[in-house]
Amino acid sequence: MLNVALPKGRLGEKVYDMFEKAGFECPSIKETNRKLIFENPEKGVRYFWVKPSDVAIYVERGAADIGVAGKDILLEYEPDIYELLDLGFGKCKMAVAAMADFRDNPQQTLRVATKFTNIAKSYYASVGRDIDIIHLNGSIEIAPILGLSDVIVDIVETGTTLKENNLHVTETIVPISARLIANKASFKFKNEQIEKIAKSLSAQLEEK
Ligand code: PRP
Repeated sequence: MLNVALPKGRLGEKVYDMFEKAGFECPSIKETNRKLIFENPEKGVRYFWVKPSDVAIYVERGAADIGVAGKDILLEYEPDIYELLDLGFGKCKMAVAAMADFRDNPQQTLRVATKFTNIAKSYYASVGRDIDIIHLNGSIEIAPILGLSDVIVDIVETGTTLKENNLHVTETIVPISARLIANKASFKFKNEQIEKIAKSLSAQLEEK
């Protein structure tokens, strides 16, 4: 049985459709109920819906053989997994944003609010800037407005959230997209199935 962790939500549904086309269908997943695990013993596949930011944990620990996770999560937590394919969707970027009137003073420690503390730390280390990290769990955009931080490091997709909170991107750190990932042992022992999926997904992306 191949265990697949899918990110709950629209992106996960799109991914499931691609797996279906790859020959790993599981019709019961389309039922409207609140179940989280679906399996098709005939095809030897089991899917489960998990919080997008948790996919990499399931895969790293082998509860899932493969899954789809955002590059942001892979960069932040550096799970010990194989990254097999850039799916090219779920595109956004990790960026630094500040209020329009913010002027950086390099003599002062920069206060950075973020959910992605490791990404922020390594980015500022790479540019040699001293920072004070303020870890938040959400609504990061309000930190500079309330004077809690000077800047934020966060995901920007359409830019609407920043705009509506009078913030703008000052630096782009890295582009982000969804990735197909695999557990290292599973990649060895269930290689045939995993390769079949990776190849089909890659071909489906090329068709577009
Ligand atoms: C992200 C991010 C921003 C928003 C940006 O949050 O933290 O708040 O998306 O999108 P936009 O540029 O299209 O406005 P997400 O929806 O991932 O939820 P979160 O608050 O749980 O991080």
